[in-house]
Amino acid sequence: MTKTVLVTGGCGFIGVNFVRLLLETREDWQVVNLDKLTYAGNLQSLEDVQDDPRYRFICGDICDKNCVDDIFTKYHIDTVVHFAAESHVDRSITGPDEFIQTNIVGTFTLLEAARNHWLEKGMDADTCRFLHVSTDEVYGSLGDTGYFTEQTSYDPRSPYSASKSSSDHLVRAYFHTYGLPVLITNCSNNYGPYQFPEKLIPLVLNNALKGRELPVYGDGGNVRDWLYVRDHCEAIVRVVEKGQVGQSYNIGGHNEKKNLEVVELLCDMLDKKVGLMESGKSRRSLITFVKDRLGHDRRYAIDAGKIDEELGWTPAFTFETGMEKTVDWYLHNRSWMESVMDGSYRKYYEDMYGS
Ligand code: NAD
Ligand code: DAU
Repeated sequence: MTKTVLVTGGCGFIGVNFVRLLLETREDWQVVNLDKLTYAGNLQSLEDVQDDPRYRFICGDICDKNCVDDIFTKYHIDTVVHFAAESHVDRSITGPDEFIQTNIVGTFTLLEAARNHWLEKGMDADTCRFLHVSTDEVYGSLGDTGYFTEQTSYDPRSPYSASKSSSDHLVRAYFHTYGLPVLITNCSNNYGPYQFPEKLIPLVLNNALKGRELPVYGDGGNVRDWLYVRDHCEAIVRVVEKGQVGQSYNIGGHNEKKNLEVVELLCDMLDKKVGLMESGKSRRSLITFVKDRLGHDRRYAIDAGKIDEELGWTPAFTFETGMEKTVDWYLHNRSWMESVMDGSYRKYYEDMYGS
């Protein structure tokens, strides 16, 4: 079925992987990518698809009502997949303002545009859908046992997760109040190509290759449930196509790991793939325990039974196969990482769009 999809935040980590997946696998879909190109947006990551006639990039802010309205009108958007957000927990602790603006006000602006453009034209769930990409962090922190289900009460504990919870509540309210055909996905930690090196896995890969310290917060015993990004993107497409409107779907990798285990695995993989460091030491010697994150959630673990049973989605990648692909991608794309680290990725689009 033909669709015209507004992807917000399509120049971020998951958005880039999602745009690529759509262009590869959904021949009849048109993709409009709206991205503000914050520090986390990297236009170069989509350089090779920029001339695809099914793809349009628009540099703009999801909080800008006029810009969003114009896009709905001009491109006849029938599907929204909303990724755009401030996404890094540590930044939300040191500077929460942007998280409130983009994650809450931005989501509200998009919901209003969808309400005005779709419902006033009598469009319903057969013709249009608004998928909000959210996080498992809305559920708070688990102890040693148990899993987050779609029934778990919200208990956000960082400014980031509080802002994502707020946006989830708004999205749900638009379903109940106006009948807007919405869907919500709450996913665990993603990893894979094109991730900004402020997040654990690409940060460790970058530092380890340069012989720099590998900062592990607290005792390294915090647990995350890791999902290869391609699996997340496939799950989102499944929910867009087959999900029941008004519903939330948890997405997870069945891959619970302690942070220290993840860092040690990355060190061992690099030692094997590129050899020990010049000093003859393993990269494990770079591991440095540092001050813990404020309010650091101890454990996340997803029960992804609902999306499996109702929509037939399970992850295709194990942690081992996903990590193998990820490490190889970063090793073969060192120039991508360098352009992020030295800031030249910003120059690329400043030349096109101004600073
Ligand atoms: P990211 O930080 O890599 O990318 C965010 C993108 O949004 C960037 O391209 C940025 O330029 C854009 N953006 C930010 N503010 C904007 C604004 N006001 N207007 C338009 N564009 C704006 O994030 P990500 O890791 O790709 O995450 C994408 C979404 O998935 C987020 O909503 C996040 O909460 C959610 N999520 C992420 C993970 C994860 O592990 N990364 C897991 C679950 C859910
Ligand atoms: O669970 C889903 C969430 O996963 C998403 O909603 C967020 O957008 C995404 O950023 C991610 O949040 P985390 O805080 O879990 O990811 P991060 O990579 O920042 O950290 C992963 C774990 O590693 C966490 O327990 C903190 C720890 N950590 C992180 C960094 C950057 C370290 O020990 N050292 C580090 O240098």
